[in-house]
Amino acid sequence: MKVLVVGGGGREHALAWKLQQSESVTGVYVAPGNAGIKEFATAVAIPADDISQLKQFAVDRAIDLTVVGPDNPLANGIVDEFQQAGLKIFGPTKAAARLESSKSFAKEFMARYGIASPGFAVCDSANEAIRAVESFGFPTVIKADGLALGKGVVIAHNLQEAEQAIRRMMEERLFGEAGSRVVVEEYLQGTECSVHALVDGQNYCLFPTAQDHKALYDGNHGPNTGGMGAFSPSQTLSARDLALIERDILQPFLRGIQAEGITYQGLLFPGLMLTKRGPVVLEFNARFGDPETQALLPRLSSDLVELLEATMAGRLREVTPHWSSAASVCVVLASRGYPDRAETGKPIVGLPEVAALKDVLVFHAGTREQESRVVTAGGRVLGITAVGDSVLSARRKAYDAAGMIEFDGCYFRRDIGER
Ligand code: AMP
Ligand code: GLY
Repeated sequence: MKVLVVGGGGREHALAWKLQQSESVTGVYVAPGNAGIKEFATAVAIPADDISQLKQFAVDRAIDLTVVGPDNPLANGIVDEFQQAGLKIFGPTKAAARLESSKSFAKEFMARYGIASPGFAVCDSANEAIRAVESFGFPTVIKADGLALGKGVVIAHNLQEAEQAIRRMMEERLFGEAGSRVVVEEYLQGTECSVHALVDGQNYCLFPTAQDHKALYDGNHGPNTGGMGAFSPSQTLSARDLALIERDILQPFLRGIQAEGITYQGLLFPGLMLTKRGPVVLEFNARFGDPETQALLPRLSSDLVELLEATMAGRLREVTPHWSSAASVCVVLASRGYPDRAETGKPIVGLPEVAALKDVLVFHAGTREQESRVVTAGGRVLGITAVGDSVLSARRKAYDAAGMIEFDGCYFRRDIGER
């Protein structure tokens, strides 16, 4: 079968890498892909959010399965459009993806089904939002309702910061329509973590734990990024926490989507806070995490195509994925300026040497080919993933490999996988 992966980051490189290992797969296309996937797949020059061109491509090439990486095409209904054209595609429909693409929808859904999440107010005007902030006290959390490239969340410590954030989102429309509505939220303290689960509408299948590092600098300082690295397994979640997550989040989630007639088939990746009153949902993601996926998939020994097909057919109950007991660590190499405006076009040195290392995988993210050289093309450039007997041993291998890569302005955290 021929598979199309939509997206061009490290997550999509890891998905494509794992999919092409499946015996049933004869060809992999990635749109738009990056310089790294060219070794085993075909990069297709269609942006991930150009749904009609992607659909045309899938029809023309008789693609048997499409797997969607990023949130945007899901929120814009790529799954619905492909399905209407009779194409098989992995991911939730537009209606189901609203659990990620509308924070107010997700909050109200959680409230209806007793899923713990921070106290909140949905506000349709700046004045309303400011009144809500005053009633919550500080710090308080202000979230653009829609998708905002992971930048739509502000933790305000005083009224001035809150007002500024609200005006930027609601009046200056920093995130466009995504900020026409905001959610003001109670600030929670605790330990952040997340889980990944396949959901087929009736059942779920939990992945092993993985954890990312969102802050730019070591020790979790500095601005939030898409993720500067990840490791698996994570020691943060105890067996008891996981049991609570299943009982108090995943099971009510399933009851909720069924009660509302939402056909949710795809990956569910809730961002959680472990608090004294148990696990609390900060957000739902309707897709694989990046870089979490780069740490998780090298540990999967089962066939990914079979798992995705079982999910799409509502047969998750019949499959049991196998995961290796090895640990993995993914260190993201970013370009100077990330997460704001990152430098691009810098030649990358050391890729063939690192590719030859044992237990090391290089997933490309922001790279492209220029005059037969690989150059940087985005904020997160590479994800260097290593596997080992323990997180410690995987860390050593990942950092040894990362140290062999050079490009102007290369930056990475030194504490990925450290507790
Ligand atoms: P989100 O996109 O909703 O996961 O929010 C991005 C980040 O903001 C999270 O990873 C947390 O670090 C932080 N955050 C979001 N909501 C809250 C909250 N209610 N209390 C404390 N921190 C939060
Ligand atoms: N690493 C966080 C995310 O993918 O949203």
